[in-house]
Formats: sequence, C-alpha cells, structure tokens
Amino acid sequence: MSKRFYISTAIDYVNGHPHLGHAYEKVVADVIARSRRSMGRETFFLTGLDEHGQKVQQAALAEGKTPQAYCDELAAVWKGFAAKLELTNDDFVRTTEPRHKQVVQAILSKLYAEGQFYKEVYRGFYSTREETFLTDKDRRPDGTFDPAYGEVVELDEQNYYFRLKDHQQWLIDYITQNPDFVAPAYRRNEVLGFLKNNVLEDLCISRPAARLNWGIPLPFDPGFVTYVWFDALSNYITIPASLGDPGVPADLANQPPPLAAPPSAWPADIHLVGKDILKFHAVYWPIMLKAMGAPLPKQVLVHGWWQKDGHRMSKSTGNVVDPVAVIDEWGVDAFRFYVLRELDIGPDGNWTEAGFKSRYSAELANGLGNLVNRSLSMLKRYRNGVVPGVSGELAPEAEKVIAETRGLLEQNHLQGALQSIWSLVARANQYVDQTAPFKLAKDPANAGRLDEVLYNLAEVCRILAVLLCPFLPGTAGRIYAQLGLAGAPDKFEGARWGGLAAGHAIGTPAPLFPRKDP
Ligand code: ME8
Ligand code: MG
Repeated sequence: MSKRFYISTAIDYVNGHPHLGHAYEKVVADVIARSRRSMGRETFFLTGLDEHGQKVQQAALAEGKTPQAYCDELAAVWKGFAAKLELTNDDFVRTTEPRHKQVVQAILSKLYAEGQFYKEVYRGFYSTREETFLTDKDRRPDGTFDPAYGEVVELDEQNYYFRLKDHQQWLIDYITQNPDFVAPAYRRNEVLGFLKNNVLEDLCISRPAARLNWGIPLPFDPGFVTYVWFDALSNYITIPASLGDPGVPADLANQPPPLAAPPSAWPADIHLVGKDILKFHAVYWPIMLKAMGAPLPKQVLVHGWWQKDGHRMSKSTGNVVDPVAVIDEWGVDAFRFYVLRELDIGPDGNWTEAGFKSRYSAELANGLGNLVNRSLSMLKRYRNGVVPGVSGELAPEAEKVIAETRGLLEQNHLQGALQSIWSLVARANQYVDQTAPFKLAKDPANAGRLDEVLYNLAEVCRILAVLLCPFLPGTAGRIYAQLGLAGAPDKFEGARWGGLAAGHAIGTPAPLFPRKDP
C-alpha cells in the first residue's frame, strides 16, 4: 500500500469538558482529512486524549475516583464530542491504552540503551495546570509567572533527563533547510528565534512515582513514571507503530504485525496544534524522533486561539462558547462553517454571537440555502423536476472556482477555499436575478432559454455539493439527495461541468438552513 496522508490533532487533556478551541482544531483537521480523501489520497486521521499526569491524578482524587475510572467516564464524553462534530478520524488514541504504553516503553528503552538519558537532581518550578517545567527565565518582569500557568510549585528531586542540548544545532539546521516544517512562516521564525537565542535545557522526562504514579513506568527504573509530555507526544508514532506501520523503525513497531492491514502512515504529513504548544512540537518532538531513529513529520501546522467577545475564554468568568449547545441549536454544519470561514489557520479569532448569526443568515440561509432552494424548486415547478439538456453558460466560471478551490485545499487554505466557493454561490444567485426564470416561464416562446437557465442552476448546485463536502458533509449530502443523486458527493473529480444528465429526475427540494428570525 502506498503511504497514506497522515494528519493528527493535539490530544486533549481528558480533565474538563470540550470547548470551542478543541472543537475548532478538530474540525480543521477533519476538513483537511476529508479533502485529501476527496482528492483521492488514502488518509489516516488521528485524534484522541492525553490522560496521564498530575492534573488528572489530582482531579480524579478530588472526585473520589480512581484515575482510570475518571478517565473512562470522560473519554466517553470526548468520543461523543468527536461524533457530534462529525469527525472522520480513523482511530482515537487514549494514552492509558496498553497499545500506546507498550510503544512508549519501547522508545524509552531504546533511548536509555543508547545513552540519551542521565539521572540528576532537578531543582526548579513546575506548573501542574500546563504540565510544564519552568525556569527563572519564564518569570515576567515583576517576578511572577503568568497566571495561565496556575499554581507553580518548586521541585527538588532526582529525575531522568533527555539530552536535548546535544541536538540544538542539528534542529536549527533542519528547520532552516526545511522551510515548511513549521507553518505559518511567522511561527517558524518564532521557533528559530528561540533556538538561536537560548541554550536548550535538557528535558526532564520522569517524575518520582512516590509523588506521582499516574503515568507510564520507566522500563529501566520502576521508581519513576514518564513525564506526561514525553508520553503524550509519542502518541503520534505509537499508534502507527502498534498497528505495524512499515514507516516506523522496526524496533518500535509491533512484532509481529497485526492481522489488519498496517496504516502505512508514518511519517505524519501534518501535526495540527495550537500556538501554545508550539515548542513541544517543533523542538522536543523532532529531537525525540531523531534520537529514536524515526523519520520526521513533514509539518507542524499551528493555529491561533479563539476568544469570545474579545476576551480570553474562561470557565470561572463564564465567558465560554459551548460548541455542543451551538450545534444543538443551529446544526453541526453551521458551526463548522462559522469557525472555518471566520478564522484562517494561524491568527487568533474572536467569536461573537452577532457574527455567528450574521454569517448564518447571509451566507448559509440567504446565500447557499436560497440558491439551492429556488434553483431546485423552479426546476420542479417548470419542468416537473426533469433536468433539461446540458448547457454550459456558467461552466467557465464554475471551472475557475473548481481549480481555485482544489489549489487552496492542497495548501490547506480552508478559509480561502470557502471564499472561492462562495464566489460561485454569489454568481449563481446573481444569475437567477439577471435571467429571471420566473418571467421566462410566463411565455412559452422562452422555453429554450428557460431550459438553459434551469440546467446551469442545477449543475452549479451539484458542483457546490462536491466542493462543500469536506466542510459541510451533511449539507452536501442533502443537496445531492435533493438533486436525486445516489451516493455521497465525496469525490473531488465529480466537480466537473456537465455531470447532470438530461432527463434525470431530481428529488424533493427542502430548505437547507431554516431562517431563525423571531
Ligand atoms: O495542550 N482556541 O491539551 P489541551 C484555540 N494535552 N485552540 C485552543 C484553545 C482556544 N481557546 N484552547 C486550547 C494540551 N486550544 C496537551 C496536548 S499533544 C501531544 C498534547 C487547543 O486540552 C490547544 O492549543 O490544553 C491544543 O492544540 C488543543 O486545544 C488541546 O489543548
Ligand atoms: Mg491547554
């Protein structure tokens, strides 16, 4: 099997409930995965949960549960959330699964045997909320740590260290020579700036089991568990490895390979992550992979953060967007559309209820919904739902949008692709107004012209279904069904003018986005 296109998301901390930021990242990854499949690429899309660490242990304790029972309950919530977002992930990793833990231990054993680790006393600071080590360099000018770190504790204990420092120059060279390794470009510059202006500290990769036992035991020293970030980053390769992926070094892959076809996914094409965890993915992770002798992923793709009404989302102030509530009220496609259309991959975004409602009504209900509804209703009314002979009046404009959208999808410019698709929606709505089929229908002498107009409109609707499918899969499927077409519009090659055949009978038109005006 040829190598699959492999995209991963960050694995979310299992404690706490999913919010807008989590939903956004997963939807972006889903659109990229669906669009690659649509363009004929076999794909492996992985998402999941980060379940170890002090944060989880403390949260479980506070609820009087064992950490495993606590994780199992929340994992069901998160899996339900993935389904709610209509994610097409091929697998779902939980870091407490044996298949993950085995490979993490294989990685640790290999690096230990190769002398990549040493033991030393750790003196420094630790943020449990972000599960991250801090130094005096992380203090703000007034001497305090950023409140985002939550409580910061001072540690003084023996631990194992990974020799990051030895690989610093190699990483600088690697990122310089592989300009696409971190995207967007300003994030790459941020990483290079950091690497060139700081001496990397070696990475503490253990916690004493006496203090924290909710983690993967170090295979070479049972007195310690693995630092949660070392454990979590590994998920990207442990799952392919556990499935017998031929791209993973043989000493890490599952032996013997399982019966099912291996995913042929590694190395990953895209690790999609938020800006706050850039350093883990663009510094620690490539060095870990290099040390374990594995090929590096092609790209770390970094998205920005959502705010609500211009402020950081925070549970304590109630300033949050609950994606589940939005989906229950407006539908999953309206949610997916808004976040993808509003925010490009890179900058920060701002959710406002007014902005959401305005895009819903202008672009979905009045734009796309109105186009499809009036096009198919007129075909039903004037031609009894039977497609007239092929006409190519809008073909050049449609073909231009198809080519543009394909190019943008190949570059993961999802917002740009939606803008291009909506230029065709606008053009077709304008075409209705200009050709005025309701007037043409009044005079039998115009029958030929009316045929042409109705064909062009129906064919644009069909092409829109194909282009929209990665973004709004349910809506695309409904457009297809209303056109009386079988199957799903999930092959990009279907976006070619002339697919609707003369004489084909369409289905029943129905509004795609009901208006919500009071
Ligand atoms: O960091 N807007 O988990 P996490 C956009 N377990 N994205 C946001 C966001 C917001 N307001 N808030 C969070 C972790 N995110 C680790 C990852 S990966 C090996 C381990 C994004 O639950 C955040 O940037 O805190 C990250 O990519 C993802 O949600 C999970 O965050
Ligand atoms: Mg976080």
